[in-house]
Amino acid sequence: MKPLLEQIRRLLEHRQQAGTLRDLQPPSGYIDFYSNDYLGFSRDTQFQKRLVSLLSNYPQCLTGVSGSRVIVGDSVQHLEIESWLAQQHRVEAALLFGSGYLANLALFSCIVGWHDTIIVDECIHRSVHDGCGLSRAKKWKFRHNDLDHLESLLKKASGNIIVAVESLYSMEGDLAPLIDLVTLTEQYDAHLIVDEAHAVGVFDYGLVAYHGLQSKVFATLVAFGKAMGIRGGALLGSRLMKSYVVNYASTFVYTTGIPLFQALEIREAYRYLKECPERRTALQEAIARFRIYGLSSTSAKCSPIQIVSITGTEHVRRVSSIAQQNGLAVYPIVAPTVREGSECLRICLHAFNKAEEIDLLGNLLRQNI
Ligand SMILES: Cc1ncc(COP(=O)(O)O)c(C=O)c1O
Repeated sequence: MKPLLEQIRRLLEHRQQAGTLRDLQPPSGYIDFYSNDYLGFSRDTQFQKRLVSLLSNYPQCLTGVSGSRVIVGDSVQHLEIESWLAQQHRVEAALLFGSGYLANLALFSCIVGWHDTIIVDECIHRSVHDGCGLSRAKKWKFRHNDLDHLESLLKKASGNIIVAVESLYSMEGDLAPLIDLVTLTEQYDAHLIVDEAHAVGVFDYGLVAYHGLQSKVFATLVAFGKAMGIRGGALLGSRLMKSYVVNYASTFVYTTGIPLFQALEIREAYRYLKECPERRTALQEAIARFRIYGLSSTSAKCSPIQIVSITGTEHVRRVSSIAQQNGLAVYPIVAPTVREGSECLRICLHAFNKAEEIDLLGNLLRQNI
């Protein structure tokens, strides 16, 4: 076997032996305690019908835009929807992407360079790390939500300084102290970027908007593949930031623009969100019911992501398989997604989870961890 193929085979075998090999499988059909469909939009037939009616109004929207948006691939509707989205979030400008991952990659890859410093929370999403890797800036990590540690790094940082956090952490289920982060970054002339992939929809327009911090934050990332039930991402911020990304981010310039349908469905999802405030109430009720079981220590009490720590890959997998035998799908998080020793179950609560389903899960976990 050629050396490269041998190396690939060995690395996969290593994961297999460690019990961490990933595999692609069809959905289990079990009760959903693992997806990011927090408000139930992606399974909502009413919402699906509205998307279908978009198609009949704009039959041309399903096909591709035939090029990069900076060359041929733009339309009046793309621009209108971006302005509309910016208005909704009370920011100057919005820029749409095919996914949240691509939006982060674009921003972090170009916003700073060689002489600058990006300081990220150690739990920040992979897309931010990958973007930083492309930027060639120094990348430092601060301990999760530890502002003293962040300050010690801010004191040593050079060049332009970016600080990157998630408002609701996807693998921890806790919140960033956004107001304190704004104060601290202002003190050190650093620029704050907030990833709201999991917060938007769950907390209406996200926590930056909730706290009225739009003008204090350099850029916000919103993603639509989670609570909004569709797909896509957007960068929100100043006109200057948007224009810079449009000009300098390879992952925006050298790729075909998003199809109009994706832009239209993003606007439709926001409209639907406005019409269904009861979904957010139902979600909070589901979270409160789960928390009665006292299993989750570090996740925020309003978070749809409730982390239950269970140390050891085998132990987490065993508990998750007991849940499955009872018709419940939960997601075991093991290395390499988290460090060895930090294994856990990531329980996602949804507006559609019934009280008896939550009780079954709570009781099973209590008995088996
Ligand atoms: C915190 C965070 N940021 C960004 C992303 C990427 O978003 P998308 O799934 O739209 O690519 C994710 C997805 O898991 C995420 O959890």
